[in-house]
Amino acid sequence: MSANRREFIKQGTIAGAGLAGMTMVSNDLFAQKKEKGKKAAPRDESIVRVGFIGVGGRGQGHVHDSITVGGIEIVAVCDISQDSLDKAKQIIAKNGMKEPKFYTGHDHAYEEMLKSEELDAVIIATPWEWHVPMAIASMKAGVPYTGVEVSAANSLEECWDLVNVHEETGKQLMIMENVCYRRDVMAILNMVRTNMFGELVHCRCGYEHDLRSVKFDLLKNDLKIGKEAHSEAQWRGLHSVRRNGDLYPTHGLGPIGTYLDINRGNRFLTLSAMATKSRGLHDYVEDHAAKESIYRNIQFNLGDIVTSMIKCANGETILVTHDTNLPRPYSLGFRVQGTNGLWRGEGGGDWKDPAQEIYMEGQSKPHVWDPSEPWLKKHDHKLWREKGTLAEGAGHGGMDFIMLNDFFDAVRGKKEVPLDAYDAAAWSAVSALSEMSVARGGASVDFPDFTRGQWIKRRPHFAMDNQFPISQERALINNLF
Ligand SMILES: NC(=O)c1ccc[n+]([C@@H]2O[C@H](COP(=O)([O-])OP(=O)(O)OC[C@H]3O[C@@H](n4cnc5c(N)ncnc54)[C@H](O)[C@@H]3O)[C@@H](O)[C@H]2O)c1
Repeated sequence: MSANRREFIKQGTIAGAGLAGMTMVSNDLFAQKKEKGKKAAPRDESIVRVGFIGVGGRGQGHVHDSITVGGIEIVAVCDISQDSLDKAKQIIAKNGMKEPKFYTGHDHAYEEMLKSEELDAVIIATPWEWHVPMAIASMKAGVPYTGVEVSAANSLEECWDLVNVHEETGKQLMIMENVCYRRDVMAILNMVRTNMFGELVHCRCGYEHDLRSVKFDLLKNDLKIGKEAHSEAQWRGLHSVRRNGDLYPTHGLGPIGTYLDINRGNRFLTLSAMATKSRGLHDYVEDHAAKESIYRNIQFNLGDIVTSMIKCANGETILVTHDTNLPRPYSLGFRVQGTNGLWRGEGGGDWKDPAQEIYMEGQSKPHVWDPSEPWLKKHDHKLWREKGTLAEGAGHGGMDFIMLNDFFDAVRGKKEVPLDAYDAAAWSAVSALSEMSVARGGASVDFPDFTRGQWIKRRPHFAMDNQFPISQERALINNLF
């Protein structure tokens, strides 16, 4: 390991040190790797050495978009599916990148990858059950930066594991919540931070996405789920059989979390959830499965609509909807409402969508919505103004590029990640807490404080480098302490 590189890892550890600040684990592991291994050839320290775990639909997108962002070397890729590996290999070759080392063959091949390779960053895009074991292994192996897909964790124990291991190892963990980087969502963040909506009072969000053809592989006269199926139908549907709660809360709650400064001056306090009856998936099976299919016997636990109400320490409420089993167009159902006006952000983020509207007291015609486009254009975030053209063609309207660019920027600059382990834990905890509350007839359940009291003095951090100054009211409070 070159002196520079050792310094890089050391600094990454210090920059990322959590509350406990124990840094020995990871550095020791790197030392072991060095002893066992080959002498590292001198290299360009500004190039980020990346490993990917899970290169199915989402992971392939990350491989492609990471190459587009640039400044990286793909050192290793791990997946248990040869088909996924072949597709990732093609993307890498097509883009003229050096072939990485591939790890496969069994469920724990990623551990071999983490043990053998010196990586600056790992990106995990595997089924939900694997996120936490893999993220923990990555941090414990000494990887300075780990990015994990959404939702980050399935249970409260898993949420704590992410936080505890981040603090013990001092390694950075980022929840790869791409919707925080959606162009309209970031423009609204600017409007929130300049206090245009006044003091925020109530927010809404959700995941309203007809996933029936994702949870099942639809064939000509039949359908498949589980081991016999492909991609997400292999694993995602099982969660709808066994669980009843908001299974996918972070696309909505991530943005709202950044608006409300969750974990940074505010926090989620309590949650109360209710689920409707479960009809959508059963009807889908009835309509599409072969006559004698055993799928007809599956009982789905997941209510078609799960509604959670969250109360925050600073007095706001958030209504979160999970709606994935019924026919409907896509929407994340945003609403951001303050003492001076509100944004209604239905749909998928298109600025021209008539379902995107803004009302601003004193500026809008009384009681009449404005189309949101002129407002959003005016408040476009610096990241988009500077990189929007480069992002064209990248995943999800370019927001995946903007997110990966921000992630690699943190890695290269040895900075704190924009969306951290505490965000991963608090946002993902909504799944487990909503399951608990639904099971108890909507009873209120308490959020753990994953920051252990630090939320009181932590300051807003996400996307702060911007052309719009934070409002005086917000800045005053932040600077008081
Ligand atoms: N942020 C977004 O917009 C977005 C979009 C799609 C999916 N996702 C998330 O990305 C993740 C992956 O979703 P996907 O659509 O790519 O699913 P997928 O099923 O297409 O891909 C998952 C991949 O993980 C591999 N895998 C499974 N177990 C493994 C193991 N033990 N070791 C190594 N590889 C393993 C599978 O072989 C597969 O190639 C999920 O968490 C999902 O929620 C996020």
